[in-house]
Amino acid sequence: MKEYLVIGNPIEHSLSPKLHNQWIKENNIKAIYKKQKLTSNDLSELISKIKDTKISGVNVTVPFKNEIITHLDELTYEAKATQSVNTIYLDTNKVVGHNTDIVGFEKAIQQTNYKTEGKTILILGAGGVVPSIIFALYKMKALSITICNRTKSKAEQLKNLFNDLKIIEWGESTNFDMIINATSVGLNDNEELDFDFSKVGNNKFFYDVIYNPKETQFLEKAKKLGNKIENGKKMFIYQAAASFKIWHNVHPTINTKLSEFLDL
Ligand code: ATR
Repeated sequence: MKEYLVIGNPIEHSLSPKLHNQWIKENNIKAIYKKQKLTSNDLSELISKIKDTKISGVNVTVPFKNEIITHLDELTYEAKATQSVNTIYLDTNKVVGHNTDIVGFEKAIQQTNYKTEGKTILILGAGGVVPSIIFALYKMKALSITICNRTKSKAEQLKNLFNDLKIIEWGESTNFDMIINATSVGLNDNEELDFDFSKVGNNKFFYDVIYNPKETQFLEKAKKLGNKIENGKKMFIYQAAASFKIWHNVHPTINTKLSEFLDL
């Protein structure tokens, strides 16, 4: 029986095991997908287990998407460009790091029918998933991307990867076409992002990487003001589907029944 893992810290709330095990079952694959809370000290042992084929594949989440890189033999183009790995596999004795968050975000946005081409984008946050979102947005021909993060130095660091980025102060906002919450604010129901909606204008697209709760206060408020909104559910499902395809060479089924099963 092949074993797959999602690693992170914290990891208790990850829905990846439920999702992957459902697809494993549907496709009659002899495998199991588990979750494991790790510390930095555990990473090299984990990679050894992949080399020894004791573990067949790993998803990586907060806070290890960048830190794992030093332990890997090879990176795909996408992982290298974003310095972010969420999917690991073995390829002819080499442990390879890849990034499926990019395609996850891209497919999620395509499904909404929103066209990012020529649009001005504001991203709130500079954490683990932001390089992937930036990469996808440039690929989808966004006109400009502005980063606004509480800790400004972390936003500035992103310019090492993407030198066209604009940076603004936390709390500052002007007119944008699309506003993305990529901070962790809103994961707890009562948390509200300190965002001035009056500056961005009307009929905009507000996106939140968070999918649980389904509607953060950020999205709720944006919707009340008449804007288009979308949460991170589809990005989560599509990044998982891309990992699944790499490991099992099967495109898993994605439909409303799956969302219901996940309670998303
Ligand atoms: P990591 O930073 O380890 O990659 P993450 O969950 O991917 O973790 O990112 C958390 C993001 O939410 C960061 O952009 C963080 O801002 P800082 O860089 O200033 O820490 C942001 N964030 C978390 N709590 C916040 C809060 N109360 N107000 C504003 N931003 C917050």
